Amino acid sequence: MKITVIGTGYVGLVSGVCFAEFGFNVVCVDNNAAKIAELQNGDVPIYEPGLDKLMLKNSRAGRLTFSVDAKESVKKADIVFIAVGTPSKPDGSADLSYVYKSVDEISSFINEEAVLVIKSTVPVGTTRSVKRFLLDKGVNVDVAFNPEFLKEGAAVEDFMHPDRVILGIESKKAKKILSHVYRPLYVFNTPIVFTDLETAELSKYASNAFLAMKVTFINEMANLCESCGADVNEVAIAMGLDKRIGDKFLQAGPGYGGSCFPKDTSALVDFADKLGVDLPLTKETIKSNNRRRMKMVEKILLACDNDVKGKNISILGVTFKANTDDMRDSPSIDIVNSLIERGANIKIYDPSFSDQARRIFDKVEFSANAYDNCNGADVVIILTDWSEFRALNLGELNGRVKNSLLIDLRNIYTLSEVNASGFSYCSVGRTFKKLESRKDVRE
Ligand code: UGA
Repeated sequence: MKITVIGTGYVGLVSGVCFAEFGFNVVCVDNNAAKIAELQNGDVPIYEPGLDKLMLKNSRAGRLTFSVDAKESVKKADIVFIAVGTPSKPDGSADLSYVYKSVDEISSFINEEAVLVIKSTVPVGTTRSVKRFLLDKGVNVDVAFNPEFLKEGAAVEDFMHPDRVILGIESKKAKKILSHVYRPLYVFNTPIVFTDLETAELSKYASNAFLAMKVTFINEMANLCESCGADVNEVAIAMGLDKRIGDKFLQAGPGYGGSCFPKDTSALVDFADKLGVDLPLTKETIKSNNRRRMKMVEKILLACDNDVKGKNISILGVTFKANTDDMRDSPSIDIVNSLIERGANIKIYDPSFSDQARRIFDKVEFSANAYDNCNGADVVIILTDWSEFRALNLGELNGRVKNSLLIDLRNIYTLSEVNASGFSYCSVGRTFKKLESRKDVRE
């Protein structure tokens, strides 16, 4: 079985590497020559735990290659996956130009016995339109839609052990080839769901919109907790023990970001609107998540007596979540910029040493570790829930800061342990009591 994957972004690269790990021959294609050269050299252009080792292993085994030449690999492929970006246009709709450009490019070379599978997240109806687009060019190839549910930072694990595989198909041939491609997962009893193209396309958007709504719901509860004295972490535990609700995606914080939830919720609303269907819950999720960032700034200001001018603020973590260097739509961008506008002196430490972050905050000083970042700080703010922030030596930190105020927008500590270390602790959806600054506590 020969597989070609067009596009070497998160989805394309992880899928290509993991299909090779399954034992197939895979060619990953991208028109970005510099990126392909990097990959051929064994360098992984994205920060994704475990991906480098798997890539090297399969490249060495000769099962995984990288190429700018779509033509040659597509000619020989039994299955071609399109995994290019579908970014948001300014009006919120999904930009499908990369999908059509790739399909157009390969249309003259694709073997009609092959199956063309769209893996990019695309609005309902797109896969069928791609089929029509190809037929108009005289190419009669079977198409399918196979959404990807991997999370950045856990992408390899998500691909190798998915909760389910969704396959939108409309021919026996597509079913046969795709069954073969995902056969290695049968050993884990992974549910493989065959359905029609439209249902598969909507399943992806519905899943992301639901998760975005779940996060937004717990953030609303966090607001309520702050006014009524409840603890949102414990509310989330209580809710999550109900199997109908489940305990995932109930972590209150600064709102969702990244390259998927914001883009996919907007695209869902856009194509539903075009079909004359109103999605008020999804619309409110988007608005509420957008308001969330300013709400976090207000929280910070309140904890800082409404004045951050001239204050030294140590920011711990800026990526949109842990285990990634991805800054796309990270809540930190609006929050940090807003503090800068108000005259704060910002210093940043992020464990990914993200180049994207350095470009975005090009006037800000970055530190080599969390402790140095906190030297002389008036306030320390945790913005991303990196594991290494979970076990900070708060006593040592307290010895380094000027003023003992810790604002934790990811709720990674308990109130008592932070207060015991001498810090005042302001978190999300939990009581905030400002303590007298205590520099006498050491661990
Ligand atoms: C998301 C989905 O989880 C994947 O299943 C999907 O494949 C992917 O989008 C995609 O469409 O490609 P990802 O964007 O990598 O994956 O990140 P998530 O882990 O879902 O987090 C999204 C955002 O929600 C982050 O900003 C995160 O901090 C936030 N979040 C998540 C919370 O604030 N609380 C939570 O409890 C969970």
